[in-house]
Amino acid sequence: MRDVDRGIGLSYRAAIRLEPWGPDDLPLLEKCLGDPAMMEHLGGPESAEKIAERQALYERPDSKQFKIVDEESGKSVGWVGYWEREWRGEPVYEIGWSVIPAFQGRGIAGAAAGEAIERARVDGEHRYLYAYPSVNNEPSNAVCRKLGFTLLGLTDYEYPKGNLLRCNDWRLDLFAGGSR
Ligand SMILES: CC(C)(COP(=O)(O)OP(=O)(O)OC[C@H]1O[C@@H](n2cnc3c(N)ncnc32)[C@H](O)[C@@H]1OP(=O)(O)O)[C@@H](O)C(=O)NCCC(=O)NCCS
Repeated sequence: MRDVDRGIGLSYRAAIRLEPWGPDDLPLLEKCLGDPAMMEHLGGPESAEKIAERQALYERPDSKQFKIVDEESGKSVGWVGYWEREWRGEPVYEIGWSVIPAFQGRGIAGAAAGEAIERARVDGEHRYLYAYPSVNNEPSNAVCRKLGFTLLGLTDYEYPKGNLLRCNDWRLDLFAGGSR
């Protein structure tokens, strides 16, 4: 673990790297989105059709969706990505993350999200990046807290369509503490 990225509030990093999401990464996406335990706070597992749809989107070179690779074992251990959305009338980024059970609790989500946030900051497209973990998703809320997000309050988030989740509304200012 290294002491880096104080600018975005990250106090350490596990040894991981991000790689572009590739054509061979469907099994990893299935482990992340098709497993009921992994999707406990996200409205339940996604169907094979939905996962295949996502795979096609993630493979696009401009998708901003990444595979998380554990440096020590060389294994693919999860997904992190960000995308544009509108929130309260403003274009913003939203971020999401997922780490397979065998590799959880080692700081991997925090490190991977820190890397992705750095990329979003360098893109320079939007000032604010949001995350909306369910209020009961303790590890995900802990990741937001340790990366320096500000908790704005509670919100109802529709995910998947037709299913309302009670979520925390976390926001990170990508322009704070940088060169802007
Ligand atoms: C959320 C998720 C990505 C976290 O992955 P991870 O690699 O284990 O996360 P990290 O190790 O970086 O950090 C987890 C943090 O949660 C904390 N945590 C774990 N369980 C906790 C609990 N029950 N209460 C409070 N904090 C908890 C850990 O202590 C750690 O914080 P710390 O580093 O300050 O000690 C992983 O649990 C996951 O993939 N879940 C399923 C998918 C999901 O819910 N994605 C998020 C959607 S918003």
